[in-house]
Amino acid sequence: MASFTNIPKLVLLLILSSAACNLVSTDQKLMEKECHNAEVPATCIECLNSDSGAKEADGVGIATIIVNCINNLAESLAANMSSLASGTRKKEAKVIFQWCAKGYSSAKKELISSKQALKNGKYDAAEGSVSAALKSHVQCLDKIESNEEKVQENIVQKIRIYGELSEAANRIIERL
Ligand SMILES: *[C@@H]1O[C@H](CO)[C@@H](O)[C@H](O)[C@H]1NC(C)=O
Repeated sequence: MASFTNIPKLVLLLILSSAACNLVSTDQKLMEKECHNAEVPATCIECLNSDSGAKEADGVGIATIIVNCINNLAESLAANMSSLASGTRKKEAKVIFQWCAKGYSSAKKELISSKQALKNGKYDAAEGSVSAALKSHVQCLDKIESNEEKVQENIVQKIRIYGELSEAANRIIERL
């Protein structure tokens, strides 16, 4: 019957430990809540974890960090597309990769506008810019896929994360 007398203690322990948990993980909870509606929450969380400011960030701050991650990917993908363009002798592939390099460069401009709009509280404009940056990305992806161009695995991965984070950013901005 010892287990019966232990129940209140166990309950108390559970309450105490969940209270302690709440104390240490409030910020983590906001991050998880914000990323919850994303199609791939893990990618969203991973981006937030890459920024030491995320723990103190509010919703707008979290959206800004995600847009910043997308911006970094756009920068890196623009460079990758340029080197793919100069590395191929196939004329059609060269045209596609050059087109994509330009697309990611203009996406960067949109993403910088989006960060500015977030700062100014213009959330519709911020979402519009993320969507514009996503559009050139999707068009690039279409061209690469329909032409079956070969792209290194780590670039493919960045392309995938770019799409996931754009979707996450829009979901978060929609709720601001
Ligand atoms: C893609 O670009 C990044 C940033 O410029 C660079 O570090 C990386 O080596 C490139 N990857 C490939 C496969 O070209």
